[in-house]
Amino acid sequence: MNHFLDIHTTDPTALRGMIDSAIAMKQARNGRPKGTPDDDRVLDGRMVALIFEKPSTRTRVSFDVGVRQLGGQTMVLSGKEMQLGHGETIADTARVLSRYVDLIMIRTFEEATLLEMAEHATVPVINGLTNRTHPCQIMADVMTYEEHRGPIAGKKVVWAGDGNNVCASFIHAAGQFGFDFTFTGPQTLDPEREWIDFAREKGVTVAVERNPEAAVTGADLVVTDTWVSMHDPESAKERRHNQLRPYQINERLMGLAKPDALFMHCLPAHRNDEATSAVMDGPHSVIFDEAENRLHAQKAVLRWCLGV
Ligand code: CP
Ligand code: NVA
Repeated sequence: MNHFLDIHTTDPTALRGMIDSAIAMKQARNGRPKGTPDDDRVLDGRMVALIFEKPSTRTRVSFDVGVRQLGGQTMVLSGKEMQLGHGETIADTARVLSRYVDLIMIRTFEEATLLEMAEHATVPVINGLTNRTHPCQIMADVMTYEEHRGPIAGKKVVWAGDGNNVCASFIHAAGQFGFDFTFTGPQTLDPEREWIDFAREKGVTVAVERNPEAAVTGADLVVTDTWVSMHDPESAKERRHNQLRPYQINERLMGLAKPDALFMHCLPAHRNDEATSAVMDGPHSVIFDEAENRLHAQKAVLRWCLGV
């Protein structure tokens, strides 16, 4: 049994295996109807709980569809409607759910909640986003890059904007998959030092560049995300917008990247804030492939967790 808690805590060989398996599973479906199961229904008879303490469109639907394509069943649970939201401990919730289901996916606020769930569950736990990281997203992003452009190793990935949870998992992936990473944004929104040190110790270059033009020049992949995340206070919004406006990905900035550079955004986006619609719908953008690949990448994660 394997938990999938983060990219930096998962073995790089396992991560590579999951990306390759995701691409193979996507190809094997080859356009068949989305509601039909895969030929090998490896989750036949298995039940998966999907717990959400924050809103979600992609994570919720892609996990639900993915489990069903693998032949399993799901139940989607809202944190607020569970006793968890009314004082039952995470540990007791983990022990109880482990008696009913074969795997738990949780989207939550504090990383400590995820870790406590994993510590006390006797079934695998998957991180569906915390305030600190979003590993499933970046598995889909690595898959998407490689589908379009081949190996991501050695490439230059530039993150513009807030050094948030999605950025954190991208930095972990830089270390584990061997690509260079540049963060560009204001100092107050820098990614955590711990993550930068992790990737550097793995031997890749992690740069922090305040000038967005200098950062994006020569990029193979340009990535951004919302300026205000679900866990950020609404009161942060105005200041963030003022600070981050110079880091908006528009056609001028995108034009400084390599001619064949890709543009990614995990979505949901605030169009014409962090990225213009011209870029999001433009020739470099692969945002909807990213969204689709959540499905395929997470199927690979589910299989790895359950060893099937
Ligand atoms: N990218 C992502 O995780 O989207 P949702 O919040 O819709 O799940
Ligand atoms: N950084 C965003 C990602 C949403 C998928 C958030 O945490 O709200």
